[in-house]
Amino acid sequence: MSDDEIDLTGLGLAEACRKISDLFSQTSIEGAELAARMLLSGATGSSRTDLILSPDRKLEMDASRKLEHFVTRRLAGEPVTRILGSRTFWTLDLHVTADVLDPRPDSETIIRAALEALGVRKDASLRILDLGTGSGALLLALLSECPHATGLGIDLSGAACAVARENAERHGLSDRARVTQGHWFEGLDDTFDLIVSNPPYIESADIADLAIEVRAHDPLLALDGGTDGLTAYRDILRFLPSALRASGIAVLELGAGQEAAVRQLAQAAGLRTRGTKADLGGVIRALVLERETAA
Ligand SMILES: C[S@@+](CC[C@H](N)C(=O)[O-])C[C@H]1O[C@@H](n2cnc3c(N)ncnc32)[C@H](O)[C@@H]1O
Repeated sequence: MSDDEIDLTGLGLAEACRKISDLFSQTSIEGAELAARMLLSGATGSSRTDLILSPDRKLEMDASRKLEHFVTRRLAGEPVTRILGSRTFWTLDLHVTADVLDPRPDSETIIRAALEALGVRKDASLRILDLGTGSGALLLALLSECPHATGLGIDLSGAACAVARENAERHGLSDRARVTQGHWFEGLDDTFDLIVSNPPYIESADIADLAIEVRAHDPLLALDGGTDGLTAYRDILRFLPSALRASGIAVLELGAGQEAAVRQLAQAAGLRTRGTKADLGGVIRALVLERETAA
């Protein structure tokens, strides 16, 4: 469907919202009503309150053109967050572009698990490492919760690093967050109190079957975990123990059903499983590790 086939000219806010929501429902787009509201707000600057208190306020011509274009993009499979260029993660509004994974609510499990494992240590002057930082989601959420911590985000994608730096700046965290381009631990000789990572973990053969929102809009580098989905875990776990301080904690995000395999890799690398944490859907999403000789 093209922009020309969607005509929102002259409609009021509520009618436009209803029309878009119906179109999305008819094309089986999940969360049709919320998506319609978010796009309406992004294109017109109107709030939820405006929608309730001024439902008949007519769309300006520019806003209706913009909204029609947003709707066409969503119908073509582009997620709302990418159309609007922003995503709320934890408490932070993050800029997202085509160069970074759209941070998922499931990944907030990593933040919950890390904060639980740190306990009162979260207020110490911790050193945090985020491997495969993407938009900076994990690193920045942790720095926002750990007021005296400093952190390093690493990503193989230079373009992703630029987005993470921009997000650090946006949230006033750039004096505590450094972001560098690199391959996991390569060239790194520092040690850390907390290491987190949400590595690419989808089996290569499964990528073609992912929803269009994922396969066509998340970068392949952020998804592809190799033949068995475990390539990045092997690479990371080989070097992780030597970068973890004696009382340090590592929290890795897991794909569904990967717990046993990653636990085994971690154990072989000399790490002990301290616990796991499930996401809101009940999937074991976070693996919390410490050194065998933890202090
Ligand atoms: C699943 S995404 C996670 C992004 C972000 N941490 C999040 O949770 O939203 C994985 C990230 O790892 C990065 N990556 C892939 N291979 C890498 C490598 N060899 N070294 C460093 N980063 C890598 C990708 O560019 C991507 O940003």
